[in-house]
Amino acid sequence: MTLSDLKNKQTLRMVGLMTGTSMDGLDICVADVTFAGDSVQFRTVGFTTVLFTEKLREDIRQALAGPTHLVTRVHYDLGRFYAEQTDHFLTDAAIGDIDAVAMHGQTIHHISGEATLQIGEPSFLAEVLTVPVVSDFRARDISIGGTGAPLIPIVDKWLLQRETEAVICLNLGGIANVTYLPAKNSNEDLSGFDTGPGMALLDEAANHLLGDVLDEGGNKALSGTPDEEAVAHWMEDSFVIAKPPKSTGRDYFGPAWLEKYISDLTDWDSSDLLASLSLFTARSVAVNCQKFLPIQNVEEIIVSGGGAYNRAVMKSLEKEFSLVSIVTSDTFGIDPHMKEALGFAVLGAAYLKGIPGNSPSVTGASRPVVLGKLTV
Ligand SMILES: Nc1ncnc2c1ncn2[C@@H]1O[C@H](COP(=O)(O)OP(=O)(O)O)[C@@H](O)[C@H]1O
Ligand SMILES: [Mg+2]
Repeated sequence: MTLSDLKNKQTLRMVGLMTGTSMDGLDICVADVTFAGDSVQFRTVGFTTVLFTEKLREDIRQALAGPTHLVTRVHYDLGRFYAEQTDHFLTDAAIGDIDAVAMHGQTIHHISGEATLQIGEPSFLAEVLTVPVVSDFRARDISIGGTGAPLIPIVDKWLLQRETEAVICLNLGGIANVTYLPAKNSNEDLSGFDTGPGMALLDEAANHLLGDVLDEGGNKALSGTPDEEAVAHWMEDSFVIAKPPKSTGRDYFGPAWLEKYISDLTDWDSSDLLASLSLFTARSVAVNCQKFLPIQNVEEIIVSGGGAYNRAVMKSLEKEFSLVSIVTSDTFGIDPHMKEALGFAVLGAAYLKGIPGNSPSVTGASRPVVLGKLTV
């Protein structure tokens, strides 16, 4: 199919690929995407998460700090991994008729408004699947004065905006970020920003204290008691209290943060530390929403990302937002693990249709632009 055929096709079958800051694995979402006026309809065709191999995860971790020969190699290794795993998945699930792939890539470094680098060479996907691949979504927004992140708010708007009620979409990946979706009938702006840690500190602590990649279901945290005094101190963190726009990464809320605030993790009872960090995640989300968003207008908070499966964090969120109901994105047919991969599938479709994908009110860009680059 030519690019002009794709542009004119009403429903595009897109593969969306996401590898987030948690570095847990590759989320693959296949969806039929249809733009209809100011909203998008989607039908999920398939979804899976493929865990990174131990070696690839370790290589990515090291590549976050350079050196350039490693970054270069991982750029290609990831590209091969994306292509192989996507091809396997499509074959196993007997999914055909793919129109295009949209891949976010693995963020190696993000300097808000100045520079950003997502790696994973798209040529392998284009070669193996023989369809166009849209990638590198953040650069174009930065080129016109935007922060380059977050990009998901416009997708939230297309998928989840309501006529008469405002909602907040909260994604709990490694980092937590929110989208404020005003009601369609209001004249408020769409907004969105990172609130602080999502699961990154919890994963880091689970790794050190339990020797596991995560605290399954948040069970260990649920058996502990949060240390209110420590959490109150962490809540004074300069990123948590900063005014939006703001974005952060694992380079901040990761090992360096734990080292700064907790001199020796082994001084803590592991359950109590996980309970405290769960509360910190939930409270930093809540305080940011209360301080910087018109929370009184908000009907519901829609949670996605792997954090939706951590019951300790979810319970803390319910307590912190006593007046607003908390639901997970499955309520709207979006598996919480799948949300961001679906988001990039939709942004990839927007590219093919020539529809701008950034939100100037969120990123500060001077105008709406089409995001992404094409490999054919
Ligand atoms: N079953 C589970 N129990 C507890 N936590 C989970 C579970 N599944 C996912 N998570 C949490 O979600 C994180 C991954 O979320 P994800 O949305 O993939 O983040 P990212 O976009 O940063 O990769 C894991 O690192 C873990 O902390
Ligand atoms: Mg992930």
